[in-house]
Formats: sequence, structure tokens, C-alpha cells
Amino acid sequence: MSQKLKIGLIGAGGIARGAHMKGYASIPDKCEMVAICDTNEETALLAQKEFGLDGAKITTSYQDILNDPEIDAVSITTPNKFHMQPTIDALNAGKHVLCEKPLAMNAAEAKLMCRAAKDSGKILQVALQMRFSGQALFLQKFIENGNMGDIYYARAKALRRRGVPHWGVFIDKEKQGGGPLIDIGVHILDLTLFLMGYPKPVSATGKTWDVLAKNPENKNFWGEFDRTKFTVEDFAVGMIRFDNGAVVTLESSFMANAEGDPFESQLFGTEAGATIRGWGDDALSIYKQIDGQYFDLKPHNIPKVESAHVSEVQAFVDAILEGKASPVPGENGLTLNAVFDALYKSSETGHEELVDVSY
Ligand SMILES: NC(=O)c1ccc[n+]([C@@H]2O[C@H](COP(=O)([O-])OP(=O)(O)OC[C@H]3O[C@@H](n4cnc5c(N)ncnc54)[C@H](O)[C@@H]3O)[C@@H](O)[C@H]2O)c1
Repeated sequence: MSQKLKIGLIGAGGIARGAHMKGYASIPDKCEMVAICDTNEETALLAQKEFGLDGAKITTSYQDILNDPEIDAVSITTPNKFHMQPTIDALNAGKHVLCEKPLAMNAAEAKLMCRAAKDSGKILQVALQMRFSGQALFLQKFIENGNMGDIYYARAKALRRRGVPHWGVFIDKEKQGGGPLIDIGVHILDLTLFLMGYPKPVSATGKTWDVLAKNPENKNFWGEFDRTKFTVEDFAVGMIRFDNGAVVTLESSFMANAEGDPFESQLFGTEAGATIRGWGDDALSIYKQIDGQYFDLKPHNIPKVESAHVSEVQAFVDAILEGKASPVPGENGLTLNAVFDALYKSSETGHEELVDVSY
């Protein structure tokens, strides 16, 4: 492998341009983008122009990227249905992979991807950027140093009041595998489990609804969408049990008659509690008893992170160059997919379902 990594992009849509390409462009001394694939050639050409990559190869078939022995690593930023095959093919072709979240449509796919990563010895990183935020880095250290005690419960929320994505395929179950649970619940659940040390889930119970989004009277703040094509849930709730006795509850919505749009997790530990938010000035609060008095603590030295998206890409490149383990291993993505499988199944059966993360 050359010192400067050669990168291929598979998918050149919103997140490729808004996150991955910005990340690679931020470290020109470590990597260069040499090929862009999108099934829509116009989109690939647009991305090429936006980033001034005149010399980059443009293709509509990702196999062209995998057949190029010069390319060391790829970003996979296609809709969820098209994560598994390019990932497995890329790993088998000896490329490192940064794959967008959710890792897969379901746990069965995620298991095949984790297996391919293990067999290839290449890095499989899931693009779950929330753990790269300043507040996440700060709280993770605070927890690691024992200040929270044992975290036995967390309440995770990724709620949008009227935020159905009207572009792409986000309302199409066949292409996405689900709605807000798998699309944005994935972020807040990952952040929560990351802070809890990724305990192993054993079972989950949940329920989904699609009532609000199906009703055109409920205007979407983000712009209108075709109600007849809405095949995912608009709201999901779940409770997940872990093998260490911890429990997490999760709420996620594209539409809900809720207060605001909370994107946060509340962690309950034996020594302290914390609320961590995805963004904003009030991104982290800690609740602690000191000398018998109760304090709400506001940290003042949260590290400044320009962009968690850019940091995750930089972490991917550094892991490859320095021979380190995946900064966000495929197994974490599998855990999340397995939880979602159980929650969707539980919504249908009305019972608590087992979560299987073995592969
Ligand atoms: N991490 C985040 O915060 C975040 C945010 C948005 C989207 N995403 C994820 O990124 C992925 C893509 O979302 P997006 O918003 O960029 O969607 P998008 O629709 O803007 O872009 C997807 C692109 O993939 C292309 N494509 C489809 N199938 C392909 C294939 N087989 N080969 C090559 N290109 C193909 C499409 O033509 C399109 O240009 C999804 O998995 C989504 O969950 C993550």
C-alpha cells in the first residue's frame, strides 16, 4: 500500500458530498479521492466538479472501483439496500470499507458483512459519527474514569415533530429496511451504547405506528412527500434488555405530536447521571451528589470538534495508515441491526423478542 491512500466513493449523493468527501478532502497529505461511482452518472459528475477532482475516474458500476488494484479503501454511501453487496465485494477485493449507517437492512445481512471483514482482515467501519462529537468524547472520558459508576438505565430519543425526509428513498421500506428507528434511532442508540461500553443486548420489546405520516392533514415541515409511497413507520418505541442487567428505552420519529425535536440520551448511573444532546449550546449536563448536595454540572472544557462527520473519516484513514482496529467496528452495526430486527418483530407479535448478535 502506498503511503497516501487512494480512495473510491461508491454513491455520490447527499452524505457522500456532505460528509465523506469533505473528510477525505480535509487530509490531502494522507489520502486522495481517485474514483467516484454512482448509478446516476450526473450525480457522480456533480460530486467530481464540487470537489475539483478532475483526474478522478467516473463510473456507474462499483465493480470498476473494486477492480482497480491502486484503490486502498472505499466509502459506501448508497441507500441501505445497497450497503451489503458492495461492502462484501469490496472487502473480498482487499479494500478497507467505511459504510454508512445503518450497517445493513437487517442483522442477517450485517452478519455476512462482519464475517467478510473478519475473513479479509480489512477494516470495516460503520459511519456513526455522533460518538466523534466533543460532548461524546468528553462524557466517554468522564465515564471511563469511573465518575458515573454503573450505568444501569438510559432513555434515548431521536424525535422529529414533522421531519420526514422527502428526498432519496427514506420512506421506502423495501430500500431502507425501516423508518426513523433504523435511520435516526440508529444514531442515538449507538451513542448511548458507546457510552455504556456496548453491552450485549439479549431481548427487546417495541411498537411502531404510521398514523400521522399517512394523514396529509399533518403537514411536513421539511417539504411534502408522496403519502402513498410511505411504507415505513413514522414513530417507534422500544425497550431493550442487556446481559449486564442494564435497560435502554428508545423513541424515534419522523412525525410525532411531541415537544420540539429532541435528539438526546439521558444516562442513569449509580454515581451520577447525564444528558447528552446531538448538538446545541446545551449539549451536556451532568447530575451528581457531592457532600450530600445535588448539583447540575455544566462542563466548560468540551473539546471543539469542527465536524463529527469529518472526524470519523479522518479516524478511518488514520486506522488504515497506522494499522489500528476499526474506530467503529462492524460488530457495533450488527448489534444495532439485531436490536431493530427484534423491535420490528416485537411490534408484529406483541411479545418481547430475543436479540441475536452471534455470527
Ligand atoms: N451518517 C449520517 O448522518 C447520514 C445522513 C444521511 C444519510 N446517511 C446514510 O447514507 C446513505 C445514503 O443517504 P443519502 O442521504 O446520501 O442518499 P442520496 O439519495 O442523497 O444518495 C444516495 C446515492 O447513491 C446512489 N446509488 C444508489 N444505488 C447505487 C449503487 N448500487 N451503486 C452506486 N450508487 C448508487 C444514488 O444514485 C444516490 O446518488 C443511507 O444509508 C443513509 O442512511 C447517513
